[in-house]
Amino acid sequence: MSKNKAILITGCSSGIGLCCAHELNNKGYQVFASARNKKDVIWLKSQGLNSLQLDLASSQSIQNAVEELLNRTEGQLYGLFNNAAYGQPGAVEDLQRSVLIEQFETNVFGTQELTNRIIPIMRQQGYGRIIYNGSVLGIISLPFRGAYNASKYALEGLADTLRLELYGSGIGVSIIEPGPIISAFRKNSYKKYQENINKEASFFKRNYEGMENRLKKQGVAVPFTLPPEAVYKKLEHALQSKHPKAHYYVTFPTHLFGTLKRILPAKGMDWVLRKVSKEEN
Ligand SMILES: NC(=O)c1ccc[n+]([C@@H]2O[C@H](COP(=O)([O-])OP(=O)(O)OC[C@H]3O[C@@H](n4cnc5c(N)ncnc54)[C@H](OP(=O)(O)O)[C@@H]3O)[C@@H](O)[C@H]2O)c1
Repeated sequence: MSKNKAILITGCSSGIGLCCAHELNNKGYQVFASARNKKDVIWLKSQGLNSLQLDLASSQSIQNAVEELLNRTEGQLYGLFNNAAYGQPGAVEDLQRSVLIEQFETNVFGTQELTNRIIPIMRQQGYGRIIYNGSVLGIISLPFRGAYNASKYALEGLADTLRLELYGSGIGVSIIEPGPIISAFRKNSYKKYQENINKEASFFKRNYEGMENRLKKQGVAVPFTLPPEAVYKKLEHALQSKHPKAHYYVTFPTHLFGTLKRILPAKGMDWVLRKVSKEEN
């Protein structure tokens, strides 16, 4: 069933993308494990994966990657897993316009530009699967993650709209909403924090110290963290099921917060979210 089905995955240098690339490759899919840096493309190839260079922050890179991909698959693509993203930490009031733009360039604009290049191919085939990697933080918000929260809410809006627009086309659209997963995400977030947030000038200087401890912590930082294979299981369902789900919750926190969001008034929800982020308050 999976034989020769080509799948493009973004952000395979680490974490969820890397895990899913190997799992799907082992299942017999023709996986294109993309990464934005050349050295990671070489590294991925050395592990026996097909790899492409694809930087979501660059339209040229997206165009080049899609052209190379289609040359290698004779114009076909079964699945697109929009996985790549990073988290820009920082209080909303400390985010410069350029920092917000940069966050959206990768997580939202690049992701959607890539998707829009793939949709005509899937429409012509009459089938395909587009799967976004969202987050519990596209359902609920936590303090000092406003840029990332907003980018993941934006993906929810795009995915939900696209599903309506692609109804009857044979193309499935799903979004996976993980809670905490073991990956390089916090390490990469810490770099963005150091690059873009001026702690000394911030009203939230003391809160940032709590946040730094979480971002720098080695290993698991919060309860109910799962390995990336937990996301893979949902991805596999979204690719293989005749009836892929619109939304896939992963981890206990996603189920808990997703349910609370539906039943609590905003005031009650805010109370819960302030409590769970107390080390940063
Ligand atoms: N880990 C979690 O707890 C968690 C929870 C909910 C949702 N997620 C989502 O899961 C997805 C994968 O993240 P992860 O946890 O596996 O973190 P990760 O290990 O940091 O992986 C993120 C990947 O995205 C890539 N990336 C960043 N900017 C890019 C760009 N401009 N173009 C192309 N690729 C880019 C990174 O490449 P470089 O190595 O080159 O930076 C890396 O390969 C993300 O969408 C994230 O939001 C993660």
